[in-house]
This record gives sequence, structure tokens and C-alpha cells, in this order.
Amino acid sequence: MPDVVALEPHEHACIIRLERPAKLNAISEQVERELCEAVASSEVRDAPCVIFTGGETVFSAGADLSETRGYGPDEILATYRATGDFAERVADLAQPTLSAIAGYCIGGGLELALATDFRIAEEGSDFRFPEVALGILPSWGGTQRAVRLLGPARAKELILLRERVDAQHARSLGLVTEVVPNGESLPRALELAERLSGLPRLAVSVTKQVIDALPETSRQAGLGLERIAYGLLAQTDNATERLTERVTQ
Ligand code: COA
Repeated sequence: MPDVVALEPHEHACIIRLERPAKLNAISEQVERELCEAVASSEVRDAPCVIFTGGETVFSAGADLSETRGYGPDEILATYRATGDFAERVADLAQPTLSAIAGYCIGGGLELALATDFRIAEEGSDFRFPEVALGILPSWGGTQRAVRLLGPARAKELILLRERVDAQHARSLGLVTEVVPNGESLPRALELAERLSGLPRLAVSVTKQVIDALPETSRQAGLGLERIAYGLLAQTDNATERLTERVTQ
């Protein structure tokens, strides 16, 4: 079976590309497995940033409906235990992650995009969560991430009310980071990756992890985490040199 996920290391980012265009990059078990392998690879682990894309015309039309049909509870739970937590593994990456989105970004495809830190959407992109109309719900972390990102009211609007959200509306909801002309999402993601990779890598990674932990913690625990992270970063050579430079300027 040909590979459906490709890795492309660049200077400032490793690109993870879904490559199943005939099925609109629908996320099959093979895609889940290869995404997990990609995320665990040394090319990705060593990269300053990671960019997810589906290519020039489609990000992903979501979970592969032909595979999940007919699964019983045991098979569904076994799938989640094996590679069905791929979105969690993406969200757990220590470095900044970006999605470069063209065309359909639907269901599980949108869940993958929501697991990344920044979403760059082309004008023609098209967002939706069709799950509830199919009698199910987004279950690769989509409901959780939508609530944390947008708040419960907007998450309900997106998941229960909207049949389709275009790029500009997605931007106004806060679902995407920025909207760019068609064909520009990957170049823009690479540009942001270059900017991010110019910052001290440990500071970026620790700050990302602190921000991700905050919605799960109390204010006091969050403040403690921030201070401990500061204590760690302030002792690095990078911080000492940069702070001294700034003071003596
Ligand atoms: N799972 C499996 N196959 C899918 C798929 C999915 N989620 N989405 C698209 N495909 C396949 C189609 O079956 C078709 O395959 P075929 O050519 O072998 O018949 C191919 O991709 C092209 O899709 P098609 O429906 O012909 O394209 P379109 O441009 O007319 O419509 C969509 C595009 C996205 C509107 C439509 O494909 C769709 O609604 N897909 C399902 C989306 C969905 O419900 N995803 C969430 C799952 S929880």
C-alpha cells in the first residue's frame, strides 16, 4: 500500500503532508498510523517547528467514513488505544505547530488542525463539523479543543448550528490564526516558522507548554508553573546573554 503521509524536512520546519488526494485526504487508520509514526520520527522531533498540510486543494475531509462504519464498541476503543489518539500526539509536540489549510477542512481534518498551535487558512477554505448530523460527535479532541479555543457558546454554534464556515467567518470566530490568498498558506506557514525558529528554542517550547497547561490548572497552580518556568529559563546561557545585552545597550 503506498504511503499516505509524507515528511519534508525544511530549514525551519518539518512539513507533514497528508497524501491521499483521491479520497480528499480522508483520515483512515493507515493515515492515523502514519501520522503517529511521523510525529515520533527524528526528523520531526529535531525540527524547530512542524507544519501540517494536505496540499494545494484540500486539507482533509475528515475521518474515513468507509472504515468506521460497522465498528462495535470494542473495535472503536481498540482503535483509540492504538493510534486513534493521533491528535493528542500532535498537540503534545514540544515545538510550535502550524496547519496550512486549503479547501475542505472537515470533521477529523478540523480536529487535526485544532491540535496545532496556529492555523493559516486560504480564502477558499471551508470548515465544518458534520458529525452530529451523522449521529456521532467530533471525538479526536474536537469538542474539547473547540470549547477551549472559542468558548462553549461559539463551540456549540460551530458544532451544532453551522453547516459551513468560510475562511473569513472562521477568522472572526477565532478558529483560524490568519487568512491568506489561495495558494499562500504553506509559504506563510514557512515564513512564521522561520520567525519562530529565530527565537530561543527552549523559551518557545516551555512557553507553549505553560500556555497549554493553563486551561487545566487553577490560577494559583498556573502562577506557580509560570514562575518555575521562568526560574528554569532565566538560568539558561541564552537568557543571561540576551538580558545582559539588552541592559548594556
Ligand atoms: N471518508 C471516506 N471517503 C471520503 C470522505 C470521507 N470522509 N470524504 C470524501 N471521500 C471520498 C469520496 O467517497 C470520493 O471517493 P470516490 O471518488 O472513490 O467515490 C472522493 O473522496 C471524492 O469525494 P466527493 O464526495 O466525490 O467530492 P465532492 O467534492 O463532491 O464533495 C465533500 C466533497 C467533502 C463535500 C464530500 O466528499 C463529503 O461530504 N465528504 C464527507 C465529509 C464528512 O462527513 N466528514 C466527516 C466524517 S466524521
